[in-house]
Amino acid sequence: MRISDGRHYIDGSWVPGAATAPVTEKATGAEIGTYALGDASDVDRAVAAAVRAQPAWAALLGEERAAVLRRAAAILERRAGEFEEMLMRETGGVRGKARGEINAAIGKFLESASLARRAGGDLLPAFKPGKLILNQRVPLGVVAAIIPWNFPIVLALRPLGPALALGNTVVLKPAELTPIAGGQLLVEVLEEAGAPPGVINLVTGDGPDAGEPLAAHPDVAMIHFTGSTEIGRLMARIAARDFKRTSLELGGDNALVVLDDADVEAAASCGAWASFEFQGQTCITAGRHIVHESVAEAYTDALVAKARALTVGDPFDAGVRLGPMISEGQRDRVADLVARSVKMGARLVEGGTHDGLFYRPAVVTGVTPDMPLFTEETFGPVAAITVVSSEEEALELTNQCPALVNSVYTGDLMRGLAFAERVRSGMVHVNDAMGRPTGEEDIDEFTQRRWIGIQRAPLSWDVSS
Ligand code: NAI
Ligand code: MG
Repeated sequence: MRISDGRHYIDGSWVPGAATAPVTEKATGAEIGTYALGDASDVDRAVAAAVRAQPAWAALLGEERAAVLRRAAAILERRAGEFEEMLMRETGGVRGKARGEINAAIGKFLESASLARRAGGDLLPAFKPGKLILNQRVPLGVVAAIIPWNFPIVLALRPLGPALALGNTVVLKPAELTPIAGGQLLVEVLEEAGAPPGVINLVTGDGPDAGEPLAAHPDVAMIHFTGSTEIGRLMARIAARDFKRTSLELGGDNALVVLDDADVEAAASCGAWASFEFQGQTCITAGRHIVHESVAEAYTDALVAKARALTVGDPFDAGVRLGPMISEGQRDRVADLVARSVKMGARLVEGGTHDGLFYRPAVVTGVTPDMPLFTEETFGPVAAITVVSSEEEALELTNQCPALVNSVYTGDLMRGLAFAERVRSGMVHVNDAMGRPTGEEDIDEFTQRRWIGIQRAPLSWDVSS
């Protein structure tokens, strides 16, 4: 494996950063490479390269751009073992999670390749005799992609695949905790696949020094950001200055509702997955379990048993189901949310202890809607249980917090549907909490419309008529 050695990728060259910082393996703390600490001058060079490369890239046949993406999918498949290992080291996720992410990334490359062929325009009705009106789809220009650490490859590909397929060029800024798998290695794949210089550029570094000048750069047409709500808000403010397009994929305080007629064992099994998978560090993690009082005890017991059975440790060790948390900062945030809620009267009934970054999955009961575990996104392996006495109350509490996805468990699918129709989140699961749709909106998101009117029959312009 080539070890990351602190370089940006700008205009087709790997350029050393003026300063570098270590990348660590999360389970052991071992240094596994370095990444360049980029600043505004690196961003300027990367954006300039992307601006220069964009017209020729957009002028290629869609099929030629698609071919680069299909080759990238094949290279990623060939190098899957190496990516899997790096993802496990860099993110602390287990092998199954890494493998799933790589498969999704290969799929995203291929799905994006097909966009190049599907992005057609329209012919609009004429409003004058002899008029031909075209409504073309054209690329935006340079897309800035700012990515978090939880799914570094697949979340990078969500903007990168469609943006490139549709004729945009990209400057990628991966998270400082995972600059190798979703930065350097991914860019190596595109380089080998034949992306011309300047089409994909990589600037690594931290948020304020590298991410912010990238988002603010006047030649960036679109900010695609995935991460915290707080920085998402900052991105929206920065974008407003130049009316840039934005796509913001932020977090949510997701709920899993268990109604009185639910299959409690099935709900608890899903609830454990939804709270503990990848140490609870995903945007679809269920932070809140809203449970009807008639099944609350059985549900809690089942969830506690499942949490207790999970082995926490180095993801490379056999039998380990949960790896380390990503950083001390994230661990302390989660521990603090639990501590503050317990101080307000909640009960920690399972887990919640830690040894370094290894945090035991926790079950907390007696959580009320005023407690931090209810009002804030947890982003850690904590199942917080709130007991309700009616379906109406469950619905009201579900809708009390902004969520990306909510879920409801019930023995009656039509009751589940009726509940889902009253839930405010953009995604709702009935008797599941897993999976999310892929982007049908990609073509709209990464192109803009250009209206062209062609007057075929000559017009006479007589100001007196
Ligand atoms: P973050 O939002 O600070 O970082 C995400 C990306 O934004 C990283 O590449 C980072 O370098 C960049 N960034 C940070 N500050 C920036 C700035 N001022 N300008 C431009 N780019 C900037 O997320 P962080 O600190 O890693 O995690 C904090 C919380 O965010 C988590 O506890 C969780 O609640 C949420 N989060 C949500 C994710 C999701 O998938 N929805 C992913 C990661 C975090
Ligand atoms: Mg941050």
